Amino acid sequence: MSRIDRRQALALALGAALASPRAKALNIPASGGAALIPLNYNENPLGPGPKAREAMIASLGDGWRYADGDPLQRLIAAIAAHEKVAPERIAVGSGSGELLHILALGWATRGSVTCAWPTFGQLMGFAEKLGATVRRVPLDARLRHDAAAIDAATPTGTSLVYLCNPNNPTGTVLPAAELRELCLTLAARTLVVVDEAYMDFVEPGATESMVDLARGGADVVVLRTFSKLHGMAGLRVGYAIGRPDTIERMRSLELVSPNMPGVVAATASLGDEAFIARSRDSVMADRFRVTAACRGLGMQCSDSHGNFVFVRTGMSATAFRDRMRGLGIEVGRPFPPLTDWSRISLGRPEDNKALIAALRAFKAGGPTRKVAATLPEARVWS
Ligand SMILES: Cc1ncc(COP(=O)(O)O)c(C=O)c1O
Repeated sequence: MSRIDRRQALALALGAALASPRAKALNIPASGGAALIPLNYNENPLGPGPKAREAMIASLGDGWRYADGDPLQRLIAAIAAHEKVAPERIAVGSGSGELLHILALGWATRGSVTCAWPTFGQLMGFAEKLGATVRRVPLDARLRHDAAAIDAATPTGTSLVYLCNPNNPTGTVLPAAELRELCLTLAARTLVVVDEAYMDFVEPGATESMVDLARGGADVVVLRTFSKLHGMAGLRVGYAIGRPDTIERMRSLELVSPNMPGVVAATASLGDEAFIARSRDSVMADRFRVTAACRGLGMQCSDSHGNFVFVRTGMSATAFRDRMRGLGIEVGRPFPPLTDWSRISLGRPEDNKALIAALRAFKAGGPTRKVAATLPEARVWS
């Protein structure tokens, strides 16, 4: 191969690498830099599953239709059967993010919210913009929700309490009996929102869904999403389960109408048992491997039940992020006040292998390559 040919071949290879979906996802300019493996948003790069893909392709011609007629009714019926509740107990949102905004808007405008901290901040951030006061209750020494302190910080008149189980960014859970008691105590005086975005990845026996409370008379809303287990973060589908009166009010506050590909993909994905099992097994096996590798390197890890690990790195989260960028991995943003911890999402098996290699290189203190990329600021809530 001539010199020119080699240069051309290299340019082509680099171009192809930088045109990859990963590079595009990180907005890395094709003029330089290297593609980073995006382990920063708790996405699931396995999905959407085969049945969801088929359903989306089959629905392309229906793109002219609004999805909130029959397609949405079919999705609600499928979710209701899956959760063993009546359809009037289900509200579908454009991601559970829309439902978090609806809850803030409908219940907490100029009101008050109690939550653990740090946790997934989308509801609280939006509520503050609507004039709400937020009481943030520190996690306990094991980075779990402190049930007694949350109860004590929630006076009568509180608009709602947000509980994230498993918690993002720590992945920690409250045992089912303790959480159920907290929910029932709080629901006697306020609306309780239990965000279960990561419930599908929990080690058996560690905790349980609070959907049984949402099926009964207590004012408890459980939130679930298709963004994690089902690998559909870009398709924007989540749902709430709760009391019919609460759900009716949530539906009446819809902010974004559902989209056709997301609705048909979610309906199909609920029935894709083989994909669901593969997705769950992949996360749980690699969470074990990555956690063991981190602990083997002397790094403290929280007891994570999510599709991510939360690791104490011994340096500021931003310094660690820069070091990991140099090793080809994009990790999560800082989560104050736990500023020397980092949240690292699990990727495909090959991504997780690369992650372990990068963590070993980080611990060994070896040189890192320069990343010329200009990375976008993290999403506001992730
Ligand atoms: C705990 C939790 N809840 C809700 C969401 C929002 O997810 P989505 O809007 O994609 O359903 C996320 C996203 O990362 C999350 O971590």
